[in-house]
Amino acid sequence: MPRPEFHTLTVKEVRKETDDATSVAISVPDALRGAYTFTQGQYLTLRATVDGQELRRPYSICVAPDSGELRVCVKRLHEGRFSGYVNDVLEAGDAIDVMGPMGRFHAPLEPDAVKSYLFIAGGSGITPVISNIRTILAAEPKSRVTLIYGNRRGRDIIFREALADLKDLHLSRLQVFHVLSDEIPDIPLFAGMLTEDKISELASRLCDVGQLDWAFICGPGPVMDGGKAALLALGMADERIKIESFGERPVAGDLKPSSADVEIDGRRAEVDVILRGVRTRIAVPFQGPPILDVAHDAKVDVPFACKGGVCCTCRARLIEGAVEMDIVYGLEPDEIEAGYILTCQSHPTTDKVVVDYDG
Ligand SMILES: Cc1cc2nc3c(=O)[nH]c(=O)nc-3n(C[C@H](O)[C@H](O)[C@H](O)COP(=O)(O)OP(=O)(O)OC[C@H]3O[C@@H](n4cnc5c(N)ncnc54)[C@H](O)[C@@H]3O)c2cc1C
Ligand code: FES
Repeated sequence: MPRPEFHTLTVKEVRKETDDATSVAISVPDALRGAYTFTQGQYLTLRATVDGQELRRPYSICVAPDSGELRVCVKRLHEGRFSGYVNDVLEAGDAIDVMGPMGRFHAPLEPDAVKSYLFIAGGSGITPVISNIRTILAAEPKSRVTLIYGNRRGRDIIFREALADLKDLHLSRLQVFHVLSDEIPDIPLFAGMLTEDKISELASRLCDVGQLDWAFICGPGPVMDGGKAALLALGMADERIKIESFGERPVAGDLKPSSADVEIDGRRAEVDVILRGVRTRIAVPFQGPPILDVAHDAKVDVPFACKGGVCCTCRARLIEGAVEMDIVYGLEPDEIEAGYILTCQSHPTTDKVVVDYDG
């Protein structure tokens, strides 16, 4: 598969899903349809100039691949620049730069299989989850799905109606349980935060964990960590638990000074960057900004989205030398074994390094 690239597309529809969440449908011209063909649970990277600054952010697709739509959903964060822009400014008809789909938050579909899935979502984590649920219910007619979805209040529930419609359509195969932390629901089991204890109680009472084929978790850090710990303690195998992290901290590179502005004392490594068959040589400090930042400053069109070590958009193969990574969250053990690195997190530790974005 060629590496996804940015294309300037047109916003088809902007729809308020809740007070703080907006979904955005994007028109894809016929000539680019192949570049935006996606798998359930994948994300797009959006790029726009917000208050004079170019920003890019990954956003998960919330529809199924056969829906005929390309749609993401963006939840406003406090003082969030891109999420604020999408929620307050973006309109139908606007142009927006969109990088093609990436990500692995999905499991293989088997139309004849009888499988059991558990999804655990918190807040905007429902976005890649609903894409998966819609797809599985349609593509695997004998499989069953349980969703545990945590929010603060009822009015924060994103896709509330869509989930209710899906439940009506697949009454015997989809169970949806809303858990609210700031309201008191009728049944105490559904009150509180999605902590490890709460998830353990919910999972063991609402589904047969021993029979689960897959569990998917997407939400704030405590939901991901607590959910995984709970399922492991209930006997689920690690490799059957899929987690999508949205990042938790100021991840975007635009928050850091550019590599040219950083005072660097000391040696630099000679780093060759191979991208779309072109080799560019840059000098990267042993201590300082990562390879991706220096390459970007040198006008190499290196791919990135979160810059926080979670999305893997900046993945490249290390074909010579060695690097040290600050965070390797997004990489699977077999990718590390195969020599892949996250260039947004990588600092050279040898004088000569070669990284290949095409590999
Ligand atoms: C693979 C992937 C998929 C994603 N999918 C979605 C999605 O479907 N819907 C969605 O709404 N978001 C999604 N995100 C998060 C999104 O990319 C942005 O990080 C988020 O919208 C914040 O960007 P911002 O410019 O508004 O905030 P910024 O201006 O960058 O930051 C504003 C404040 O929010 C904090 N912050 C930044 N990012 C996060 C975060 N993720 N969680 C908590 N606090 C944060 C910062 O510390 C800062 O205080 C996804 C992220 C990844 C890595
Ligand atoms: S840009 Fe997301 S992991 Fe590097």
